[in-house]
Amino acid sequence: MNQTIVVVGSLNMDMVISAKRMPKLGETILGESIYYLPGGKGANQAVGIAKLGGDVKMVGAVGEDSFSDAILDQLHHYKVDTEHIERIPNAATGVASIFHTESDNCITVIPGANYSFTSNRITKRIEQIIAQAKVLLVQLEIPLETVQYVLSIAKQHGVKTILNPAPAQHLTPQLLALADYITPNETELEVLLGFQIASEQELEKAMKDWQEKYNNTLIVTLGEKGSAYLDNKSIKIIPSEKVKVVDTTGAGDSFNAALAFGIASDWPLDQAVSFAVKASGQSVTKFGAQEGMPYYEEVSAD
Ligand code: RIB
Ligand code: NA
Repeated sequence: MNQTIVVVGSLNMDMVISAKRMPKLGETILGESIYYLPGGKGANQAVGIAKLGGDVKMVGAVGEDSFSDAILDQLHHYKVDTEHIERIPNAATGVASIFHTESDNCITVIPGANYSFTSNRITKRIEQIIAQAKVLLVQLEIPLETVQYVLSIAKQHGVKTILNPAPAQHLTPQLLALADYITPNETELEVLLGFQIASEQELEKAMKDWQEKYNNTLIVTLGEKGSAYLDNKSIKIIPSEKVKVVDTTGAGDSFNAALAFGIASDWPLDQAVSFAVKASGQSVTKFGAQEGMPYYEEVSAD
């Protein structure tokens, strides 16, 4: 049975600086360590799927520098298909500067080659692998026109589509309507909606209106509270387990990876969302985005 998931998205080198606390604006503090770890929402989600045992192909771009080698090596190590990752001459690989404390992070991404991955780089061969996939998973660290283009290819061929609208950006109704599943966190949802949500009732109302407008499935991640979706027109929240948080970087990526895995496996939505909540809860107990992604056995164990 075809359960291939194609991830079209970003690949970054994460420069992670750990410190006891965040510096204040204008302040200098001493940190504890710096790590260079392969990251990027696209690559993280691809690794997350592969670690769960999913069949995953990554599509995107890196530059021609030593960061790109390290990123590709790690993808190979986790058995992600990298055949359709382009190395763009003279481009710099994407870099994320991540300031990390145990409870939080701040991230600045310099997209580099990721933003050179325009829709004219989607070859006939890439179109084919999207058309033949079971699920297409995309995020927003590559040009929006590329995101829209690959979503429309998937739609034309009846491939299920998941849009993780991160980092937060305003999106057109045309683009949003191409997704079968949309997975914002609360901030990203507010940016998509253009207004703030102050209570669970308001969230439920917004989700119902959304479903009527776009006729697709909204799954809202609520951080340590878990994740919400509409079950028979009323809000259902799958709570997350209490865990010892070490690093929240990649928690959303782990959620999307596990959700895509569940959807590619034809699981009912509540099973896929519960699995995703569990996976992302486990990812925060380990340091590093890709290192923190759990294996299938870890998520399925009770
Ligand atoms: O979601 C976490 C990721 O966001 C990091 O790996 C960083 O590269 C940024 O893309
Ligand atoms: Na982590």
